[in-house]
Amino acid sequence: MSPITAGLRRGGPLCLPGPRRTSPITPRSPARPAMAAAAGRDAASASSAGAWELRHLHLSLRVAFAAAGAGRLRGTARLELRCARAGAGPLLLDAHPSLAVHRAALLPPPGTPPGSPPGEPLPVESRPFASYGSALHVALPRPLSAGQLLTLEIDYEAGEGPGVCWLAPEQTAGKQKPYMYTQGQAVLNRSFFPGFDTPSVKCTYSATVQVPEGFTAVMSATSWEKQDNNTFVFKMSQPIPSYLIALAVGDIVSAEVGPRSRVWAEPCLIEAAKKEYDGVIEEFLAVGEKLFGPYVWGRYDILFMPPSFPFGGMENPCLTFVTPCLLAGDRSLVDVIIHEISHSWFGNLVTNATWGEFWLNEGFTMYAQRRISTEVYGSAYTCLEAATGRALLRQHMDNTGEDHPLNKLRVIIEPGVNPDDTYNETPYEKGYCFVSYLAHLVGDQSKFDAFLQAYVNRFKFQSITADDALGFFLEYFPELKEKGVDSIPGFEFDRWLNTPGWPPFLPDLSPGEQLMKPADELAELWAADSLNMEAIEAMDITVWRTYQLVYFLDQVLQKSPLPEGNVERLSKMYPKISKAQNAELRLRWCQIVLKNNLEAEYSKVKDFLHSQGKQKYTLPLYRAMWAGSESARALAMETFSATAPQLHVNVQNYVKKILGLEVVED
Ligand code: BES
Ligand code: ZN
Repeated sequence: MSPITAGLRRGGPLCLPGPRRTSPITPRSPARPAMAAAAGRDAASASSAGAWELRHLHLSLRVAFAAAGAGRLRGTARLELRCARAGAGPLLLDAHPSLAVHRAALLPPPGTPPGSPPGEPLPVESRPFASYGSALHVALPRPLSAGQLLTLEIDYEAGEGPGVCWLAPEQTAGKQKPYMYTQGQAVLNRSFFPGFDTPSVKCTYSATVQVPEGFTAVMSATSWEKQDNNTFVFKMSQPIPSYLIALAVGDIVSAEVGPRSRVWAEPCLIEAAKKEYDGVIEEFLAVGEKLFGPYVWGRYDILFMPPSFPFGGMENPCLTFVTPCLLAGDRSLVDVIIHEISHSWFGNLVTNATWGEFWLNEGFTMYAQRRISTEVYGSAYTCLEAATGRALLRQHMDNTGEDHPLNKLRVIIEPGVNPDDTYNETPYEKGYCFVSYLAHLVGDQSKFDAFLQAYVNRFKFQSITADDALGFFLEYFPELKEKGVDSIPGFEFDRWLNTPGWPPFLPDLSPGEQLMKPADELAELWAADSLNMEAIEAMDITVWRTYQLVYFLDQVLQKSPLPEGNVERLSKMYPKISKAQNAELRLRWCQIVLKNNLEAEYSKVKDFLHSQGKQKYTLPLYRAMWAGSESARALAMETFSATAPQLHVNVQNYVKKILGLEVVED
């Protein structure tokens, strides 16, 4: 056992600053496919992706649940490859020690007459690569010339790798049947199937998945079909990166919520899911199409995951996976759905070539999310939501120090560093500020919207770097290029990308002031040494929207610890907050409880952490407990030992790091 080597909280050198990229930003020539050029630069992939073109991937899988919860996936991965470089050498694939490879074979070329030998066995060997994956060496029988086609079949078995989660019945909402799901982003799908696990490579895929009687399989695919023998057949007809291939198997059913949308959930949640989203998805899709161009994925469905799902949402194409916490009963958390829908253009269609350029996925998506939200809900509400995002960025930078190397948009991910360990608010909210800055340079919203649409059209189905994106921006607005907007002192594009720190430009959120001002004032009143109850009682928060309450609680948290006795009174006065069921409110209330060491309400922290396993809720609470009193630390230990088995393995490991416990390498 050895501790995980890299981590934000440890303060160790997670990503050493690499050589400064000072090269001028030049647009790619249209003839050069962006993804091929980017391949090979991804330090997080052990594969020889740059030497091959992956034309199609087919998975043929059987899912078997075991009594204790853990199960196995058995089957075959078939990779249809084209040699891109003569003498490409051994074929290297991303894999994981938890994948057992039984056999690899070269299939006869298409058109081979029936009765020919069934394929040529190939020697394979697994070699160490990093803590998060291994390299599968496949020895090819003879040198290949560029353009040659080859079909490789790998028989394998996937067990309990970090990308394949097996849940016992009691870890599901219905508590009757086991469940399994995969989570690929960022580098976890190498424990689901062997392949090119880099966002720089895209391919179409198909799959057949056989499940036990009484179970249903769903995937991130264009088409879904149930055949005899409990077998589900899937086809994804657009090229996607490996991290977006996703599978879930469980007792799940669906209900229609729009002309191209349905919700999937365990039977006990399906009514609530339908109620929450019936009739709302289509408007988001339609506004997205108006702003960013055609929605190319066919369907947009949502799968409500078991409570331990570590993310608010995961943008698996055609089928977003979401936390059941979104079932708030009042549609107040739809911004997560708008976010995942926005990835349909930014991330899924135009993809970051490496995880060091993650802001291209998330920063553009935050911008797109807020554009859709502005169209649907108006700028006051959207600016309020953006202000809560800015508060998260502030908290993150305060925790890490502004100069932390992760606080730049282009992160240098050194070999051996797990990209998932670099996850933080910067690519989201500083990325949002940078895209807002580009819009500010243009100065006209409709012109900038047109640019975004042209950007998607230019790079769709490709994987790109920031240089590609910014080169295209300057090419699209030659007058801005002429003016040298990329080198305005203090706002240089190079500084945005390569210098850590608070964003040099913040978009104007003043349209949200009408909603923020009362919340600011109320927080101020509650922070006073002697409470002015008359003024407090004069403010009616029962009419406030969820994000207004969230904003208010963020202000209270910032001012905490409050003077003695104030939080207790606040708790009594606003049961809507202190007894809230809404996860965003519960998170903030638990943070306030811990910051004010309100032991009487520790049980709320415990209950919240028992009820769900979202990373963005779990880690801040363990950090707060660990930074608190002895009794808060005891609460952390007690809660973690009870809930650890139900947390995603990555989340488990991050909590262990916070609590100074040893981490077993995955
Ligand atoms: N793609 C991310 C989730 C993710 C990021 C998974 C990195 C694994 C590695 C997803 O789109 C996301 O950002 N979800 C947010 C939603 C929020 C910003 C509205 C979440 O889960 O909180
Ligand atoms: Zn996202």
